[in-house]
Amino acid sequence: MNLKGKNFLKMMDLSAEEILYLIDLAKELKDKKKQGIRHNDLEGKNIALIFEKTSTRTRCSFEVAAYDLGMNVTYLDPSGSQIGKKESIADTAQVLGRMFDGIEYRGFEQEIVETLATYAGVPVWNGLTNESHPTQMIADMLTIKEKFGKLKGIRFVYMGDARYNMGNSLMITCAKLGMDFVACTNPKYYPEEKLVEYARKVAQTTGAEITLTDSVEEATKDADVIYTDVWVSMGEPDEVWEERIKDLLPYQVNKKAFENAKDTAIFMHCLPAFHDLNTKIGQQVYEKFGLKEMEVTDEIFTGEKSVVFDEAENRMHTIKAIMKATLGD
Ligand code: CP
Ligand code: NVA
Repeated sequence: MNLKGKNFLKMMDLSAEEILYLIDLAKELKDKKKQGIRHNDLEGKNIALIFEKTSTRTRCSFEVAAYDLGMNVTYLDPSGSQIGKKESIADTAQVLGRMFDGIEYRGFEQEIVETLATYAGVPVWNGLTNESHPTQMIADMLTIKEKFGKLKGIRFVYMGDARYNMGNSLMITCAKLGMDFVACTNPKYYPEEKLVEYARKVAQTTGAEITLTDSVEEATKDADVIYTDVWVSMGEPDEVWEERIKDLLPYQVNKKAFENAKDTAIFMHCLPAFHDLNTKIGQQVYEKFGLKEMEVTDEIFTGEKSVVFDEAENRMHTIKAIMKATLGD
């Protein structure tokens, strides 16, 4: 497997073999880290992290992974550079490409990260766009593999807003890996038709099944994984809250959603999650709409089925694998 020099922009660009290779490499690097074995194989390289939206996990994962690999990091925050304001993405890409060995980008439209990759001349990694969140996929799949010992044949149920970056990326990933993907939500939030068509075509070759349903009972039957994400994503206007709550409350992940699932089923969430009132936005939503929990109840989030913090830790190990594979020998 040779991924050297390649970009990491969206799941559609990767083959199943490449995805599985990255999961295995991450596991190897995770084991090394746990055993205290040094793995600074990319010593002396430099990377730039561009964040046009905020982040906890993705930024920290890139930084810690880079330091473990022996690299230096420059962080460009959402307001501190010329990007997209005084300077075009193409010009920025050419400048950064002369200085850095790799560039991470988190921001808005997928088109921006694709443009960056076209002009940079060094690997570009997508740290989340409106349309996709590919680094999260490798972490999620590693987590599932750790819990079940396999990926193929897993019944993966996604509840809530399936039309944004997470729903889109998970559907494509499951299709490629032969996992059954169920989007369980109000039909307004089904993944985009063009992507569903693509996923179904891929699924025909991998044995996966892609299902879209508004029935929680039908969707969660025999589920191995129940996954959700926030109902309002970064960059979306506050005005959408009211409609989202009305449309998506029936698809909250709660005790009832797990009734039909397998006994061994797990709960996953990319985080951050709204499951209590311990956040500023949580408080605001409570004051405005009287809701204490949103996409997942606190009971499920903090309960024994939840693997969300293993999943968060795996962001670091998998991002490390992506950088090592695309920059290393
Ligand atoms: N899951 C995830 O991408 O988290 P951050 O927004 O904190 O990076
Ligand atoms: N859909 C969420 C994912 C956060 C990791 C967002 O874009 O804000």
